[in-house]
Amino acid sequence: MAKARIAVLVSGGGTNLQALIDAEKSGKLKSGSICLVISNKKDAFALQRAANAGIEALAITRKSCGGQEGFEKKLIEELDSRDIDLIIMAGFMSILSEDFTRHYDHKIINIHPSLIPSFCGKGFYGLLVHEAALAKGVKVTGATVHYVNEIPDGGEIIMQKAVEVKEGDTPEVLQKRVMEEAEWIILPAAAEKICAEIIGGK
Ligand code: GRF
Repeated sequence: MAKARIAVLVSGGGTNLQALIDAEKSGKLKSGSICLVISNKKDAFALQRAANAGIEALAITRKSCGGQEGFEKKLIEELDSRDIDLIIMAGFMSILSEDFTRHYDHKIINIHPSLIPSFCGKGFYGLLVHEAALAKGVKVTGATVHYVNEIPDGGEIIMQKAVEVKEGDTPEVLQKRVMEEAEWIILPAAAEKICAEIIGGK
Protein backbone atom coordinates (compact mmCIF):
# COMPACT_ATOMS: atom_id res chain seq x y z
CA MET A 1 0.00 0.00 0.00
CA ALA A 2 1.60 3.30 -1.07
CA LYS A 3 2.06 5.80 1.74
CA ALA A 4 1.12 9.46 1.52
CA ARG A 5 4.16 11.63 0.75
CA ILE A 6 4.80 14.30 3.41
CA ALA A 7 6.88 17.49 3.22
CA VAL A 8 7.62 19.39 6.45
CA LEU A 9 8.27 23.14 6.41
CA VAL A 10 10.48 24.39 9.27
CA SER A 11 12.31 27.52 10.44
CA GLY A 12 13.86 26.70 13.81
CA GLY A 13 14.72 24.01 16.32
CA GLY A 14 12.52 21.37 14.70
CA THR A 15 11.18 19.65 17.83
CA ASN A 16 7.84 19.11 16.07
CA LEU A 17 9.68 17.71 13.04
CA GLN A 18 11.51 15.37 15.44
CA ALA A 19 8.18 14.21 16.87
CA LEU A 20 7.03 13.37 13.32
CA ILE A 21 10.30 11.55 12.52
CA ASP A 22 10.05 9.55 15.77
CA ALA A 23 6.38 8.74 15.09
CA GLU A 24 7.25 7.38 11.64
CA LYS A 25 10.06 5.30 13.14
CA SER A 26 7.83 3.92 15.92
CA GLY A 27 5.00 3.11 13.52
CA LYS A 28 2.59 5.66 15.06
CA LEU A 29 2.76 7.47 11.71
CA LYS A 30 2.30 4.57 9.28
CA SER A 31 0.12 5.96 6.49
CA GLY A 32 2.58 8.67 5.50
CA SER A 33 6.31 9.03 4.94
CA ILE A 34 8.36 12.22 5.38
CA CYS A 35 10.05 12.65 1.99
CA LEU A 36 11.28 16.25 2.24
CA VAL A 37 12.10 18.97 4.77
CA ILE A 38 12.32 22.60 3.65
CA SER A 39 13.58 25.43 5.85
CA ASN A 40 13.40 29.14 5.06
CA LYS A 41 16.39 29.60 7.40
CA LYS A 42 19.80 28.19 6.41
CA ASP A 43 20.87 27.70 10.04
CA ALA A 44 17.74 25.96 11.33
CA PHE A 45 18.67 22.99 13.55
CA ALA A 46 15.64 21.26 12.03
CA LEU A 47 17.77 20.74 8.88
CA GLN A 48 20.28 18.83 10.99
CA ARG A 49 17.49 16.68 12.43
CA ALA A 50 16.35 15.84 8.90
CA ALA A 51 19.90 14.97 7.81
CA ASN A 52 20.36 12.77 10.88
CA ALA A 53 17.21 10.89 9.88
CA GLY A 54 18.35 10.54 6.25
CA ILE A 55 15.57 12.81 4.96
CA GLU A 56 16.24 15.14 2.01
CA ALA A 57 16.51 18.68 3.41
CA LEU A 58 16.54 21.97 1.50
CA ALA A 59 17.12 25.53 2.66
CA ILE A 60 15.14 27.93 0.46
CA THR A 61 15.40 31.56 1.46
CA ARG A 62 13.25 34.42 0.22
CA LYS A 63 16.51 36.36 -0.38
CA SER A 64 17.99 33.67 -2.65
CA CYS A 65 14.75 33.61 -4.66
CA GLY A 66 14.60 37.38 -5.11
CA GLY A 67 11.52 37.92 -2.95
CA GLN A 68 8.19 36.39 -1.92
CA GLU A 69 6.96 35.49 -5.43
CA GLY A 70 10.17 33.69 -6.41
CA PHE A 71 10.29 32.03 -2.98
CA GLU A 72 6.80 30.57 -3.33
CA LYS A 73 7.45 29.57 -6.97
CA LYS A 74 10.55 27.63 -5.84
CA LEU A 75 8.61 26.00 -2.99
CA ILE A 76 5.88 24.87 -5.41
CA GLU A 77 8.49 23.51 -7.86
CA GLU A 78 10.25 21.46 -5.17
CA LEU A 79 6.98 20.20 -3.66
CA ASP A 80 5.17 19.35 -6.89
CA SER A 81 8.23 17.66 -8.46
CA ARG A 82 8.14 15.19 -5.56
CA ASP A 83 4.38 14.52 -5.72
CA ILE A 84 3.86 15.67 -2.14
CA ASP A 85 0.40 14.79 -0.77
CA LEU A 86 0.56 16.65 2.57
CA ILE A 87 2.53 19.71 3.65
CA ILE A 88 3.08 20.09 7.40
CA MET A 89 4.13 23.49 8.78
CA ALA A 90 6.09 22.69 11.96
CA GLY A 91 7.48 25.86 13.47
CA PHE A 92 7.51 27.47 10.02
CA MET A 93 7.73 31.22 10.54
CA SER A 94 7.04 32.60 7.09
CA ILE A 95 3.82 34.05 5.74
CA LEU A 96 2.48 32.26 2.65
CA SER A 97 0.25 34.06 0.17
CA GLU A 98 -3.38 33.28 -0.61
CA ASP A 99 -2.24 32.01 -4.04
CA PHE A 100 0.04 29.49 -2.35
CA THR A 101 -2.54 28.27 0.17
CA ARG A 102 -5.20 28.03 -2.57
CA HIS A 103 -2.79 26.00 -4.73
CA TYR A 104 -2.66 23.50 -1.86
CA ASP A 105 -6.24 23.73 -0.63
CA HIS A 106 -6.73 21.30 2.28
CA LYS A 107 -3.20 19.94 1.76
CA ILE A 108 -1.38 22.09 4.33
CA ILE A 109 -1.67 21.69 8.11
CA ASN A 110 -0.08 23.73 10.90
CA ILE A 111 0.57 23.27 14.62
CA HIS A 112 -0.27 26.32 16.73
CA PRO A 113 0.67 26.46 20.44
CA SER A 114 -2.74 27.52 21.84
CA LEU A 115 -6.37 26.38 21.81
CA ILE A 116 -7.57 28.28 18.73
CA PRO A 117 -9.50 30.68 18.64
CA SER A 118 -7.59 31.93 21.69
CA PHE A 119 -4.22 33.60 21.27
CA CYS A 120 -3.91 33.11 17.52
CA GLY A 121 -3.72 35.10 14.31
CA LYS A 122 -1.38 37.90 13.32
CA GLY A 123 1.40 38.50 15.85
CA PHE A 124 0.74 35.35 17.90
CA TYR A 125 3.68 32.95 17.44
CA GLY A 126 6.31 31.17 19.55
CA LEU A 127 6.73 32.55 23.08
CA LEU A 128 4.37 35.48 22.44
CA VAL A 129 1.45 33.02 22.50
CA HIS A 130 2.36 31.80 25.98
CA GLU A 131 3.06 35.31 27.25
CA ALA A 132 -0.45 36.31 26.17
CA ALA A 133 -2.01 33.22 27.81
CA LEU A 134 -0.21 33.96 31.11
CA ALA A 135 -1.12 37.66 30.92
CA LYS A 136 -4.77 36.72 30.47
CA GLY A 137 -4.59 34.32 33.40
CA VAL A 138 -6.09 31.30 31.60
CA LYS A 139 -6.02 28.07 33.67
CA VAL A 140 -5.97 25.84 30.59
CA THR A 141 -4.14 26.29 27.31
CA GLY A 142 -2.88 23.72 24.77
CA ALA A 143 -2.19 23.21 21.09
CA THR A 144 -4.17 23.02 17.87
CA VAL A 145 -3.58 21.36 14.50
CA HIS A 146 -5.55 23.10 11.77
CA TYR A 147 -5.74 23.35 8.00
CA VAL A 148 -3.91 26.35 6.56
CA ASN A 149 -5.74 28.92 4.48
CA GLU A 150 -5.17 32.58 3.69
CA ILE A 151 -6.16 33.66 7.21
CA PRO A 152 -3.33 33.27 9.78
CA ASP A 153 -4.39 30.30 11.98
CA GLY A 154 -7.80 30.52 10.29
CA GLY A 155 -8.38 27.10 8.67
CA GLU A 156 -10.64 24.34 10.05
CA ILE A 157 -9.48 22.79 13.30
CA ILE A 158 -8.38 19.13 12.99
CA MET A 159 -7.20 18.24 16.50
CA GLN A 160 -6.63 19.95 19.88
CA LYS A 161 -5.15 18.93 23.23
CA ALA A 162 -5.47 20.87 26.50
CA VAL A 163 -2.63 21.53 28.92
CA GLU A 164 -2.89 22.85 32.50
CA VAL A 165 -1.32 26.22 33.31
CA LYS A 166 0.47 25.96 36.65
CA GLU A 167 1.13 28.54 39.39
CA GLY A 168 4.38 30.39 38.71
CA ASP A 169 4.67 29.26 35.09
CA THR A 170 7.01 31.37 32.99
CA PRO A 171 6.41 31.59 29.21
CA GLU A 172 9.37 29.25 28.66
CA VAL A 173 8.15 26.65 31.16
CA LEU A 174 4.62 26.77 29.73
CA GLN A 175 5.94 26.54 26.14
CA LYS A 176 7.88 23.39 27.01
CA ARG A 177 4.86 21.79 28.71
CA VAL A 178 2.61 22.60 25.74
CA MET A 179 5.19 21.11 23.37
CA GLU A 180 5.74 17.93 25.43
CA GLU A 181 2.12 17.31 26.47
CA ALA A 182 0.29 18.54 23.38
CA GLU A 183 2.19 19.55 20.21
CA TRP A 184 4.45 16.52 19.96
CA ILE A 185 1.40 14.24 20.47
CA ILE A 186 -1.33 15.77 18.29
CA LEU A 187 0.83 16.72 15.29
CA PRO A 188 1.87 13.11 14.54
CA ALA A 189 -1.66 11.89 15.38
CA ALA A 190 -3.24 14.44 13.02
CA ALA A 191 -0.70 13.59 10.32
CA GLU A 192 -1.58 9.90 10.60
CA LYS A 193 -5.34 10.66 10.51
CA ILE A 194 -5.03 12.76 7.35
CA CYS A 195 -2.56 10.45 5.60
CA ALA A 196 -4.87 7.49 6.26
CA GLU A 197 -7.70 9.48 4.64
CA ILE A 198 -5.45 10.35 1.69
CA ILE A 199 -4.37 6.77 0.94
CA GLY A 200 -7.86 5.49 1.71
CA GLY A 201 -9.22 7.84 -0.94
CA LYS A 202 -6.50 7.08 -3.54
C1 GRF B 1 6.76 26.08 18.70
O1 GRF B 1 6.34 27.08 19.60
C2 GRF B 1 5.59 25.57 17.94
O2 GRF B 1 4.41 25.60 18.69
C3 GRF B 1 5.47 26.52 16.84
O3 GRF B 1 6.81 26.82 16.47
C4 GRF B 1 7.63 26.74 17.64
C5 GRF B 1 8.93 26.02 17.37
O4 GRF B 1 8.66 24.71 17.05
N1 GRF B 1 4.69 25.93 15.77
P1 GRF B 1 9.84 23.67 16.60
O5 GRF B 1 10.61 23.31 17.84
O6 GRF B 1 10.72 24.37 15.59
O7 GRF B 1 9.09 22.50 16.04
